[in-house]
Amino acid sequence: MRKIEIAALPGDGVGVEVTEAAKDVLHTLARAHGGVEFSFTDFPWSCDYYSKHGEMMPKDAISTLSQFEAIFLGAVGNPAIVPDHISLWGMLIKIRREFELSVNVRPAKKVKGITSPLANPKDFDLIVIRENSEGEYSEVGGRIHRGEHEMAIQNAVFTRRATEKVIRYAFQLAEKRNNRLVSATKSNGIVHSMPFWDEVTKSVAAEYPHVHTQSTHIDALAAFFVSKPAEFDVVVASNLFGDILTDIGSAIMGSIGIAPSANLNLEGRYPSMFEPVHGSAPDIAGKGIANPIGQIWTAKMMLDHFGFEELGQVLMDSMEEVTEAGIKTPDIGGTANTRAVTEAVKEKILETA
Ligand code: NAI
Ligand code: MG
Repeated sequence: MRKIEIAALPGDGVGVEVTEAAKDVLHTLARAHGGVEFSFTDFPWSCDYYSKHGEMMPKDAISTLSQFEAIFLGAVGNPAIVPDHISLWGMLIKIRREFELSVNVRPAKKVKGITSPLANPKDFDLIVIRENSEGEYSEVGGRIHRGEHEMAIQNAVFTRRATEKVIRYAFQLAEKRNNRLVSATKSNGIVHSMPFWDEVTKSVAAEYPHVHTQSTHIDALAAFFVSKPAEFDVVVASNLFGDILTDIGSAIMGSIGIAPSANLNLEGRYPSMFEPVHGSAPDIAGKGIANPIGQIWTAKMMLDHFGFEELGQVLMDSMEEVTEAGIKTPDIGGTANTRAVTEAVKEKILETA
């Protein structure tokens, strides 16, 4: 019996509702199939916590979290009581930086029973691997000559270490999937960092001769995500390009409420963090109608991470049977509430036992 120690950070708003749902589903899955047990320790760090303590997390939060194998996060943010830059930087971004979660994995696929805004989306099933620690989102640069002659410089930083790391991870994933990889570039316009990115892609590609590799300019790639998403499998991108591509990815799936993500520390030195793409949705928080699919799919990514791919598949299939049967929350055109969707997924899982 493998017992996985997980720190649960439900956070704010619907984060609390959907993490509860996903934990329930994971426990059901473990009981039904055996071989694994999930031990969750909950931490109440959130904007409410901030109101009481004047900080999003206690001073020793990072060392507390480092004792766990994974972090399962809901969503953080409640702009009515704490400004977003404080809640985000005080918790989420701090965890990402401290734990060197340098690879961000975001799948997008046509989910059965969920209507894509695309007229003919076909059965797309792709994963974007996004560099999560540097690139265009660097703190290097500054502003000078305030006023009329002001100037701003924002430097993009591409190190060989981080670039190679994310590209190699993408090739390894492509090898496990369908031996197809597209690298997002813009070497026609960005003349230093992007040719470097392409060179690193080429040199890593040489180690994976059986993977069909292609570099595509980000502008065209963004358009292809809309016009022919089914042609993509694994896509690797820099921080900014990956950020934009993954928003298109969740948009073509039909709702931000279903999109999952993983922030990985590839070295295994720190816990990786699993969280849905959506935020705390203050507009629907407390109503019991949050879509739990994004958080449940995120749980599937956590299962995959720990090598329980078969269980992950059971979870994914059960989830899709539920959406296909039309048991859906209002954001994807249904009338079911969070509880009903969660119970339906659990029932499907029990049928597979
Ligand atoms: P949001 O993702 O919370 O909401 C955007 C829209 O999507 C809203 O209409 C919301 O009702 C809907 N939505 C989101 N999740 C849903 C779900 N599970 N089921 C059904 N509908 C869902 O983004 P927003 O409104 O920009 O941000 C709200 C708060 O969340 C802010 O404080 C923001 O900083 C924070 N945030 C936190 C993130 C995180 O913790 N990773 C990510 C994005 C935002
Ligand atoms: Mg984004």
